[in-house]
Amino acid sequence: MILIIDFGSQFNQLIARRVRELNVYCHLAPPHIQIEEIKSLNPGGIILSGGPASIYDKNSPKMDSAVFDLGIPVLGICYGMHFMINALGGKVHKAKKREYGFAELHINDHKHIFRDIDKKTSCWMSHGDSIDQLPEGFKAIAKTDNTPIAAAVNAKKRFFSLQFHPEVAHTPKGKTMIKNFLFDVCKCKKTWTMKNFAKESIQEIKKMVGHKKVILGLSGGVDSSVTALLIHRAIGKDLTCIFVDNGLLRKDEALKLKKTFKQHLKLNVRFVSARKTFLTALANVEDPEKKRKIIGRIFIDVFEKEAGKIKDAEFLAQGTLYPDIIESKSAFGGPTSVIKSHHNVGGLPKKMKLKLIEPLQYLFKDEVRLLGKALKLDDDMVWRQPFPGPGLAIRVVGSITRRRLEILKEVDAILLEEIREAGYYKKLWQSFAVLLPIKSVGIMGDKRTYENIAAIRAVTSKDAMTADWARLPHKLLGKISNRIINEVQGVNRVVYDISSKPPSTIEWE
Ligand code: XMP
Repeated sequence: MILIIDFGSQFNQLIARRVRELNVYCHLAPPHIQIEEIKSLNPGGIILSGGPASIYDKNSPKMDSAVFDLGIPVLGICYGMHFMINALGGKVHKAKKREYGFAELHINDHKHIFRDIDKKTSCWMSHGDSIDQLPEGFKAIAKTDNTPIAAAVNAKKRFFSLQFHPEVAHTPKGKTMIKNFLFDVCKCKKTWTMKNFAKESIQEIKKMVGHKKVILGLSGGVDSSVTALLIHRAIGKDLTCIFVDNGLLRKDEALKLKKTFKQHLKLNVRFVSARKTFLTALANVEDPEKKRKIIGRIFIDVFEKEAGKIKDAEFLAQGTLYPDIIESKSAFGGPTSVIKSHHNVGGLPKKMKLKLIEPLQYLFKDEVRLLGKALKLDDDMVWRQPFPGPGLAIRVVGSITRRRLEILKEVDAILLEEIREAGYYKKLWQSFAVLLPIKSVGIMGDKRTYENIAAIRAVTSKDAMTADWARLPHKLLGKISNRIINEVQGVNRVVYDISSKPPSTIEWE
């Protein structure tokens, strides 16, 4: 495995992704990790990440410099480079000019990390400090116009340092550099595949659970479905899934999921219909945060009640992913943003006093999809777009009535049908409809109408932290609009949302 020390760079997850894409397992750790722990992890190599601090800041993150005495290859990137050079006796200084963006890299040594890379290539810079003087045993192996020491090596000790970011797509040969570090320098083996992962986690789950019972909340999303499949493979009928139908799912979704879970996946699922409870509690509630709280609270109530009927349950399984874990353990501590906290139904594990199983906690979303494929989950399920826990409740803007929900379900179904048909479903992070709380005038036949407005939202994104509105073809938008206005009674106008996140958010509420 490769150990990545997280000095707080916004690109850290990207480094991890690059390593994993090359089929090598990696793990992110904070700078205060103990040397003994590093030894026990026994990594084939260590990557020191970039970070926003300057090595000379009083509170800049530092790690134990004994990391350089372990005989393990180390690659320092940007701030990680500064840390390495500084710790080993070199000098870092504040550059006269900050360097940000593309730079042409001139390489003068094509061994090791720069193997198979041309003399001249582009790289992505983002730094205010630069290297002034290298420690003993190091030599400069690349430069840019602004930065005489853009890369340096101590070949004997297998220490490499790069001023630029090889992990970003803007450094076109960055992946080759990481590949060279992993295989040429660290001699890693390509053992990280989802097939291996499935095999190993099934063994682990068996060992951990034995013949005890496990409960899992199935939402229909890819994370909980893959978690369920994995645990099911390990312990079969000792896994009971609970699916709460809150009435806020897309059109026919609850039925379709029921069929998939029971007939195709043969999971042991308890379906709880709680539509009425949710809708009654949401009557006349306009505030989005109140909606979320009500939905979260009722979900926990309903789930707990159902779970209480399962005798001897000792474990609760959840589809927590790696980014959630990293974010709460980042170099500067604490979850990255409060905006995200409302996104999960919290409180469940604490309240239920069950032991947690989170078999996906080391995976990224795209790895979960690959794992789903390895477990033979339908393509349809594997490629499902994310859907928020509070469902359509936060897409009927303002207060929710049965009628408004029905209108939205119809609009949304047409939208998805057209998006799928045009081949856009997989290309979009999310695509959905929103029902607005205002009416507008229209004319249908010869009659004046005064009806609802539906907004269409389609975004591209990698992780939902940022997103851009999708440039859907006008022809497709036209067809969607025509069909909605003609086929859904109660809608006489369709608008397309052209805002990015930030400053807008993906959902309207
Ligand atoms: P925003 O609207 O904050 O959404 O840009 C980012 C991502 O999170 C989803 N989302 C939620 N998911 N409960 C959830 O489980 C929520 O309350 C919630 N709010 C937003 C949203 O669909 C997008 O994928």
